[in-house]
Amino acid sequence: MQLIDGKSLASKIQSQITQDVIKLKESKNITPGLAVILVGDDAASHSYVKMKAKACKDVGFYSIVHEMPSSISQEEIIATISMMNQNPRIDGILVQLPLPKHIDTTKIIEVIDPKKDVDGFHPYNVGRMMTGLESFVACTPLGVMKLFEEYNINLQGKDVCVVGASNIVGKPMANLLVNANATVTVTHIYTKDLASHTKNADIVIVGTGVQGLIKEDMVKEGAVVIDIGFNRLENGSIVGDVDFANVSKKCSYITPVPGGVGPMTIAMLLSNTFDAAQKRDI
Ligand code: GUN
Repeated sequence: MQLIDGKSLASKIQSQITQDVIKLKESKNITPGLAVILVGDDAASHSYVKMKAKACKDVGFYSIVHEMPSSISQEEIIATISMMNQNPRIDGILVQLPLPKHIDTTKIIEVIDPKKDVDGFHPYNVGRMMTGLESFVACTPLGVMKLFEEYNINLQGKDVCVVGASNIVGKPMANLLVNANATVTVTHIYTKDLASHTKNADIVIVGTGVQGLIKEDMVKEGAVVIDIGFNRLENGSIVGDVDFANVSKKCSYITPVPGGVGPMTIAMLLSNTFDAAQKRDI
């Protein structure tokens, strides 16, 4: 079994971006800028945004976090996004999800200028990604694709089971895999017999937020297992959606949690923001 070390690859990518930021500043006098909009007091969202802001600072980006109370109106969020769309120092706009229930998430995402949609959530980018055109791609699935590339895990013709069908992770993940010529099964909470799908897969990719969902008897010998889960236990420790201690014994490759996919998500956000800055109209 080989561990897939996302922390190490993310750190390599961030070092490269740090160098590239210096060059971009020298050649075009551009400093990449990211605006994050954080609504409400969800503890996990606050902690993710803190990590994203720190990563921006570490690579030399300009970044701002707009914190808003959960009582904020949809119109006020839209007004802030419109302002960021117009702000020439801002290359990327990220609205941390989930949003409070009274806010229409789709409406909010559709207001973001697709050229600044570094999360790859705008329907314009989702559609382009689906058809294999150049686009911003959602950071977590993009990070998983980079891990496959780094570890020379070939996808062509492989049976891949994606567990979880969210707009942020499962659906874009499945699309990228189809574009890479894998045979993809997408499972979700209405799937009748999850194990019957995971057991037949060469690669299992799980992002559900259900701790310990994937057990040893649900994966075949030699499978590649990618764990996108990020669950905080009462004692404060972080675990994924895979029963790592037992499943890892059967795998050819597996991502740890923490230190697997999580750091790659942040590295891809930086990479997308850098790409947006490079294309800035000046
Ligand atoms: N909430 C959980 N994951 C993400 C993400 O990748 N981007 C945003 N904006 N919100 C999230």
